[in-house]
Parts: sequence; structure tokens; C-alpha cells
Amino acid sequence: MITEENVLNALRQVEDPDLKKDLVTLGMIKNLVIDGKKVSFAVELTTPACPMKDMIHNACVNAVKYIVDKEAEVEVTMTSNVTSSRQQMNFLPGVKNIIAVGSGKGGVGKSTVASNLALSLAGQGASVGLLDADIYGPSIPTMFGLHGQAPEMFEQDGKNIMVPLQKHGIKTMSIGFMLQPGQAVVWRGPMISSALRQLINDVDWGELDYLVIDLPPGTGDVQLTLCQNFPLTAAVLVTTPQKVALDDATKAAAMFRLPMLNIPLLGVVENMAWFEPEEHPGSRYNIFGTGGGQKLAEQFEIPLLASIPISICISEGGDAGVPAVLGSNEILKTAFKQLGKAVAQQLAILNSKKQM
Ligand SMILES: Nc1ncnc2c1ncn2[C@@H]1O[C@H](COP(=O)(O)OP(=O)(O)OP(=O)(O)O)[C@@H](O)[C@H]1O
Ligand SMILES: [Mg+2]
Repeated sequence: MITEENVLNALRQVEDPDLKKDLVTLGMIKNLVIDGKKVSFAVELTTPACPMKDMIHNACVNAVKYIVDKEAEVEVTMTSNVTSSRQQMNFLPGVKNIIAVGSGKGGVGKSTVASNLALSLAGQGASVGLLDADIYGPSIPTMFGLHGQAPEMFEQDGKNIMVPLQKHGIKTMSIGFMLQPGQAVVWRGPMISSALRQLINDVDWGELDYLVIDLPPGTGDVQLTLCQNFPLTAAVLVTTPQKVALDDATKAAAMFRLPMLNIPLLGVVENMAWFEPEEHPGSRYNIFGTGGGQKLAEQFEIPLLASIPISICISEGGDAGVPAVLGSNEILKTAFKQLGKAVAQQLAILNSKKQM
């Protein structure tokens, strides 16, 4: 008999592999409608970038068919409602998750990873913002082809609020939007603090599932101020496999884990992991060594979220304002899409643990 009770009982056999509970207990089954042999319902996932989407879809169909009625016509719609575990909602109240992308060493690909991560999440249906918090070397204006554009402002309670610029489907904000092209930042401490405060408090992000923050390199004052003042949900570490980069990434990991910050680490992204010449497919050159990202991940007991190869498409795309995940190199597109999925997955797990 196809009844609501029987269908729900069958769906109790389907577990979310990450959250380790069944879909009914997790409250993920919505809008169940039964009409004769027709059974339709929605599964509300914790992120549109869920890597298990197809598997959960098939498991639901099979559970109803095999446990309730083989002839049932099952229609499952996969939806999502991104979870949040933020508690300090006094600022950025519409932002569900704030993810910092950091490293100790400069030039390892933070901005590349932050941009492509943000676009990957947006491409999978999430609402996303990207904040370039690199005061001295803002990269987002170039990487998004937004050079020379200034954000609009409006006044609210006597404060000037900036409206992020929209590009490739996400909202972006950068200190670079406040500078003239070629103008160098020669500010001292107090000016930097006030610029950072403006970026944190006076930007109208609106409703976002994910706000990705591209941190400046290093583990100094600016990084500490940022991490202390932004209510970060978690951080992603970027490194190359090279020893000098790994040593610096270890310092960055230790900074996030300082008791005064206590920012959960979602995992490691190993950038510039190998080089495969187009004319010699299959031959990989490990220019900066091998296994470094994995080692760092093991040391901090966090996942290796993705390994990204060295590719001219990344540097060319970055300079042309079209990040690689939107380009034509399938290996890079796949790698960054998987990165988005892995980050969303780890965040969903983190949020569910915090809510328990
Ligand atoms: N996998 C890659 N393959 C080829 N070029 C890359 C790759 N990753 C990054 N790059 C290039 O290396 C340079 C540095 O990258 P990026 O700006 O992302 O690093 P960063 O860590 O943000 O640097 P900074 O510390 O200066 O902020 C850029 O020109 C970028 O295009
Ligand atoms: Mg950068």
C-alpha cells in the first residue's frame, strides 16, 4: 500500500552519508504527495553543491520502489537550503557561511583558489560573495575584469554603505575598487584598520549562502585583525607542494587554531601540484614536489580538498578576467567544481556538528 506513512518509513532507510542520519529524521523530505501510484516529494539538501546529490536521488527512488511498491512512479525533486552555524549575527546577518582562504606564503594561488571556489559554488546554484581582503595586493579587480570600476554607495544611518560589484553571477568587493589604477597602498596601521573595518562593516552583501574571503599572505597583524573581526565560519588552506610553502602553510594553520581565533579548518588545497604538457598528455612533471598537500592535511587531520595542476589557462584566465572554472580547460573546470563540492560538503558537516 502506498501511504504517506509507508513512504516515510521507506525513506528512513536512506541515510545522508555525511550527516550520518536518515533523511526523515534530518527533516529533509518536503512536500510529499501521493496520488494512486504516483509518489512525489522534494529532498532538501544542505547545499546545492552536494556531491552526493545523484546518489541520494537514486536511493530515494529505490527505497520507495523496493520497500513500498515496485510499481510506484516516484518523482524526486532535489532542492537545497544552505545551513549555517553562525551565532554572532550582529553584522552580516544575511550571510550564512563565511569562508576564509589563506596561506602563509605569498603567490601560492590564494586569490586563484578563492575566485574559482566562489564561482564554482555559484555555478552549482548557491548565492555567493567574494571579498578581496588583500589590502596591499588586491587581485580580484584584475581576475574579474573589473579594473577601474567603483562600487555604488548609499547612505544608511549616517554611514556610507558600498554595494558590491556583480560579475559572473557573484558579488565582489575589493580594496582595489577604492584605489586609482596603479595607485599603491602605502597606508600605515590605523589606515589599514579603518579600511578593513569599512570592508567588514560597510558593505551591503544582502543574503548570501557563502561569502569567500581572499586573505592576504602571511600570519601577521592584518590577518589577525581580519580573523578576529570577521565572524569566520571556517578556513581553507592553500599551499603548493614545495617545502617553503608547506612550512608557511603550517604556520597559517596554527594561526587559525590559536585559542583566541579557534577557526575550524575545512581542508587543504594543493595548488601547482603538477604540470602536464598539452603535447605530452599523460606525462606529469612534479615541479614543486609531490605529496605535500596530503602531508599537511594529515598533520592537521583535515581533508585534502583538491589538487590543482599548473596550467597556463589559470594565469591567462586570471589576467583576462575569466577565472579557469569558467574557461575551456576541462581538467581545471572539473578540479574547481570538485573543490566547490568538497568545501560545501565539509561546511555542511561542520554546521550539523555545531547544531547538535
Ligand atoms: N595552478 C596554477 N597554474 C598556473 N598559474 C597559476 C596557478 N595558480 C596560480 N597561478 C598564477 O600565479 C600567480 C599567483 O597566483 P595568486 O595571485 O592566485 O596567488 P596568491 O597566493 O593570491 O598571491 P598573493 O600572495 O600575492 O596574494 C598568478 O599570476 C596566477 O595566475
Ligand atoms: Mg592574492
